[in-house]
Amino acid sequence: TERTLVLVKPDGVARGLTGQVLARIEAKGYRLVELKLVHAERALLERHYEEHRGKPFFGPLVEFMLSGPVVAAVVEGHRVIEGFRSLAGSTEPTTAAPGTIRGDLGRDWGEQVQQNIVHGSDSPESAEREIGIWFG
Ligand code: GTP
Ligand code: MG
Repeated sequence: TERTLVLVKPDGVARGLTGQVLARIEAKGYRLVELKLVHAERALLERHYEEHRGKPFFGPLVEFMLSGPVVAAVVEGHRVIEGFRSLAGSTEPTTAAPGTIRGDLGRDWGEQVQQNIVHGSDSPESAEREIGIWFG
Protein backbone atom coordinates (compact mmCIF):
# COMPACT_ATOMS: atom_id res chain seq x y z
CA THR A 1 0.00 0.00 0.00
CA GLU A 2 0.97 3.58 -0.63
CA ARG A 3 2.17 6.00 2.07
CA THR A 4 2.23 9.78 2.30
CA LEU A 5 3.64 12.36 4.69
CA VAL A 6 1.05 14.68 6.20
CA LEU A 7 1.92 17.74 8.30
CA VAL A 8 -0.47 19.80 10.37
CA LYS A 9 1.37 23.10 10.02
CA PRO A 10 1.90 25.56 12.92
CA ASP A 11 -1.30 27.46 12.10
CA GLY A 12 -3.34 24.27 12.26
CA VAL A 13 -1.80 23.16 15.54
CA ALA A 14 -2.09 26.64 17.11
CA ARG A 15 -5.74 26.90 16.12
CA GLY A 16 -6.52 23.52 17.64
CA LEU A 17 -7.41 21.88 14.33
CA THR A 18 -5.22 18.77 14.66
CA GLY A 19 -8.06 16.53 15.80
CA GLN A 20 -10.33 17.64 12.96
CA VAL A 21 -7.61 17.05 10.36
CA LEU A 22 -6.80 13.57 11.70
CA ALA A 23 -10.51 12.75 11.97
CA ARG A 24 -11.05 13.62 8.29
CA ILE A 25 -8.13 11.40 7.28
CA GLU A 26 -9.48 8.48 9.29
CA ALA A 27 -13.08 9.08 8.19
CA LYS A 28 -11.93 8.85 4.57
CA GLY A 29 -10.62 5.36 5.39
CA TYR A 30 -6.87 5.97 5.60
CA ARG A 31 -4.73 4.64 8.43
CA LEU A 32 -2.27 6.52 10.64
CA VAL A 33 0.95 4.52 10.89
CA GLU A 34 3.26 7.12 12.51
CA LEU A 35 2.33 10.26 14.46
CA LYS A 36 4.29 12.87 16.44
CA LEU A 37 4.23 16.49 17.63
CA VAL A 38 7.53 18.22 16.87
CA HIS A 39 9.08 21.66 16.88
CA ALA A 40 11.12 21.25 13.68
CA GLU A 41 14.65 22.57 13.18
CA ARG A 42 15.58 24.96 10.39
CA ALA A 43 17.84 22.45 8.60
CA LEU A 44 15.06 19.86 8.46
CA LEU A 45 12.56 22.38 7.08
CA GLU A 46 15.01 23.62 4.45
CA ARG A 47 15.44 20.01 3.28
CA HIS A 48 11.69 19.42 3.34
CA TYR A 49 11.05 22.49 1.16
CA GLU A 50 14.17 22.06 -1.02
CA GLU A 51 12.13 22.35 -4.25
CA HIS A 52 11.14 25.92 -3.27
CA ARG A 53 14.66 27.15 -2.41
CA GLY A 54 15.31 30.43 -4.26
CA LYS A 55 11.62 31.37 -4.56
CA PRO A 56 10.53 34.63 -2.89
CA PHE A 57 8.33 32.84 -0.35
CA PHE A 58 11.02 30.30 0.71
CA GLY A 59 12.42 32.35 3.63
CA PRO A 60 9.02 33.38 5.02
CA LEU A 61 7.76 29.80 4.54
CA VAL A 62 10.60 28.35 6.64
CA GLU A 63 10.10 31.06 9.31
CA PHE A 64 6.40 30.27 9.45
CA MET A 65 7.11 26.54 9.83
CA LEU A 66 9.54 27.40 12.67
CA SER A 67 6.93 29.51 14.47
CA GLY A 68 5.47 26.63 16.47
CA PRO A 69 5.08 22.88 16.74
CA VAL A 70 3.77 20.80 13.85
CA VAL A 71 2.15 17.40 13.81
CA ALA A 72 3.81 14.94 11.43
CA ALA A 73 2.07 11.77 10.32
CA VAL A 74 2.62 8.89 7.95
CA VAL A 75 -0.70 7.93 6.43
CA GLU A 76 -1.30 4.71 4.52
CA GLY A 77 -3.85 3.49 1.99
CA HIS A 78 -4.42 2.72 -1.67
CA ARG A 79 -3.91 5.99 -3.66
CA VAL A 80 -3.49 7.97 -0.42
CA ILE A 81 -1.17 10.57 -2.00
CA GLU A 82 -3.82 11.71 -4.45
CA GLY A 83 -6.58 11.11 -1.93
CA PHE A 84 -5.06 13.28 0.79
CA ARG A 85 -4.29 16.13 -1.62
CA SER A 86 -7.91 16.01 -2.69
CA LEU A 87 -9.02 16.14 0.98
CA ALA A 88 -6.63 19.05 1.62
CA GLY A 89 -7.86 21.20 -1.29
CA SER A 90 -5.92 23.65 -3.41
CA THR A 91 -2.95 25.60 -2.01
CA GLU A 92 -4.66 28.97 -1.55
CA PRO A 93 -7.06 28.62 1.37
CA THR A 94 -9.33 31.57 0.53
CA THR A 95 -10.46 29.92 -2.69
CA ALA A 96 -9.93 26.23 -1.87
CA ALA A 97 -13.18 24.33 -2.41
CA PRO A 98 -15.59 24.10 0.52
CA GLY A 99 -15.63 20.51 1.75
CA THR A 100 -11.83 20.40 1.80
CA ILE A 101 -9.62 20.96 4.85
CA ARG A 102 -8.21 24.23 3.49
CA GLY A 103 -11.55 25.35 2.07
CA ASP A 104 -13.50 24.71 5.27
CA LEU A 105 -10.91 25.64 7.89
CA GLY A 106 -8.47 28.07 6.26
CA ARG A 107 -8.32 31.61 4.91
CA ASP A 108 -5.86 34.37 4.07
CA TRP A 109 -4.81 36.18 7.26
CA GLY A 110 -2.84 38.86 5.41
CA GLU A 111 0.48 37.25 6.24
CA GLN A 112 3.39 36.92 3.81
CA VAL A 113 3.00 33.18 3.50
CA GLN A 114 -0.12 31.23 2.79
CA GLN A 115 -1.12 29.63 6.07
CA ASN A 116 -2.96 26.63 4.73
CA ILE A 117 -3.11 24.24 7.70
CA VAL A 118 -1.72 21.08 6.11
CA HIS A 119 0.97 19.64 3.89
CA GLY A 120 0.72 16.44 1.89
CA SER A 121 3.38 14.83 -0.33
CA ASP A 122 2.74 15.29 -4.04
CA SER A 123 4.24 12.09 -5.54
CA PRO A 124 5.52 8.67 -4.44
CA GLU A 125 9.11 9.97 -4.73
CA SER A 126 8.34 13.03 -2.55
CA ALA A 127 6.50 10.85 -0.05
CA GLU A 128 9.44 8.50 0.49
CA ARG A 129 11.89 11.44 0.62
CA GLU A 130 9.75 13.37 3.13
CA ILE A 131 9.00 10.35 5.33
CA GLY A 132 12.78 9.82 5.52
CA ILE A 133 13.30 13.45 6.55
CA TRP A 134 10.64 13.46 9.28
CA PHE A 135 10.80 9.87 10.55
CA GLY A 136 14.35 8.74 9.64
P1 GTP B 1 2.19 21.70 0.57
O1 GTP B 1 1.27 20.55 0.75
O2 GTP B 1 2.45 22.51 1.82
O3 GTP B 1 3.48 21.35 -0.16
O4 GTP B 1 1.34 22.69 -0.33
P2 GTP B 1 1.17 22.68 -1.88
O5 GTP B 1 1.82 21.47 -2.48
O6 GTP B 1 -0.27 22.94 -2.12
O7 GTP B 1 2.00 23.95 -2.24
P3 GTP B 1 3.52 24.08 -2.70
O8 GTP B 1 4.29 22.82 -2.46
O9 GTP B 1 3.52 24.68 -4.05
O10 GTP B 1 4.03 25.20 -1.69
C1 GTP B 1 4.40 24.89 -0.38
C2 GTP B 1 3.87 25.95 0.55
O11 GTP B 1 4.48 27.21 0.27
C3 GTP B 1 2.39 26.21 0.38
O12 GTP B 1 1.60 25.29 1.11
C4 GTP B 1 2.25 27.62 0.89
O13 GTP B 1 2.25 27.64 2.32
C5 GTP B 1 3.54 28.27 0.40
N1 GTP B 1 3.38 28.87 -0.93
C6 GTP B 1 3.31 28.23 -2.11
N2 GTP B 1 3.19 29.06 -3.14
C7 GTP B 1 3.19 30.30 -2.60
C8 GTP B 1 3.10 31.60 -3.16
O14 GTP B 1 3.00 31.79 -4.37
N3 GTP B 1 3.14 32.64 -2.29
C9 GTP B 1 3.26 32.46 -0.97
N4 GTP B 1 3.28 33.52 -0.19
N5 GTP B 1 3.34 31.25 -0.38
C10 GTP B 1 3.31 30.18 -1.19
MG1 MG C 1 3.90 20.90 -2.15
